Amino acid sequence: MKAIRIHAFGGPEVLSIDQVPSPQPLDDEVVLRVRAASVNPIDYKTREGSVSETLPVTLGRDVSGTVEICGTRAHTLKKGDPLFAMLGHDRGGNAEYVVVKATEAAAKPDRLSHVEAAAVPLAGITAWQGLFDHGGLKSGQRVLIHGGAGGVGHLAIQLAKAAGAFVATTVSAEDVVFVRELGADQTVDYKNQRFEEVVDAVDLVFDLVAGDTQERSWEVLKPGGTLVSTLSQPSQEKANLRRARGVSYLAEPNAAHLAEIGRLIEAGKVTPFVQATYPLGEVAKAEERLENEHVRGKIVLEVSA
Ligand SMILES: NC(=O)c1ccc[n+]([C@@H]2O[C@H](COP(=O)([O-])OP(=O)(O)OC[C@H]3O[C@@H](n4cnc5c(N)ncnc54)[C@H](OP(=O)(O)O)[C@@H]3O)[C@@H](O)[C@H]2O)c1
Repeated sequence: MKAIRIHAFGGPEVLSIDQVPSPQPLDDEVVLRVRAASVNPIDYKTREGSVSETLPVTLGRDVSGTVEICGTRAHTLKKGDPLFAMLGHDRGGNAEYVVVKATEAAAKPDRLSHVEAAAVPLAGITAWQGLFDHGGLKSGQRVLIHGGAGGVGHLAIQLAKAAGAFVATTVSAEDVVFVRELGADQTVDYKNQRFEEVVDAVDLVFDLVAGDTQERSWEVLKPGGTLVSTLSQPSQEKANLRRARGVSYLAEPNAAHLAEIGRLIEAGKVTPFVQATYPLGEVAKAEERLENEHVRGKIVLEVSA
């Protein structure tokens, strides 16, 4: 089968389309025929060597596809069942087939195509775990989401609204209408406005940007509030000064979280936005675009029909 692998760290030119043996499932695992795989910042960060990995490595953490082979204990699934999954970092979904574990996959929502479904797992699970597990967001609370128009942010806005929160978000001017349509109650054009001057105190800051944006976020946090970052550990000293909590975390595959997100998708409360698709062989273009251009929502690779 074809798999996109890297044999050295570097720019998009290190991405190589390799012929590799098709994988086999163990026990309750299945082999998924990958229909679509989405691109996340972790893909280009891994390719560039920012994440420790043993080479060669197949990139891609998000897949949607159909069951091809069931392991001997995968009794609840059969060939052809549609699944979507966030893969553990020991495998890559930029390939024609991939092993998926029972702890990583959920039924693909009927409402979504494979391309749309592949946009959801990593970004959706990151949003879920950041808002609810680490952020403790509850109905009636106020959350500020930095980077609301990106892959994680556009799903986080919808998940927070579905949970009954007030959502403020920082975006570029061109994304204001987009995030309003997703349900954001207040938008801040981050290139022209300072969010700390216009957003009233919030219970939770969900930081998808880091740096100066994270530093300034303490000013909008209620005493006792929480700053959750996907990127860097918030200052413990500043957290203590505000009697607040600062958390950074790494999202982990979680079938139960993905199934919950799938139910919200089926109920029409959450819808992923796919800005562009590329064939698997053009993964280099897809990664370059995500890293260097303005992207709204997600970019997805079409792997097979
Ligand atoms: N810890 C984890 O497990 C985990 C999981 C997923 C993602 N992440 C990390 O979280 C970050 C976000 O992921 P993603 O998939 O959502 O990335 P993405 O799709 O590239 O989106 C990033 C968004 O941030 C916006 N942005 C950039 N600078 C900003 C600023 N100063 N203020 C407000 N918004 C700003 C961008 O908008 P413009 O284009 O308009 O600038 C873009 O919409 C990435 O760095 C990723 O590596 C970590």
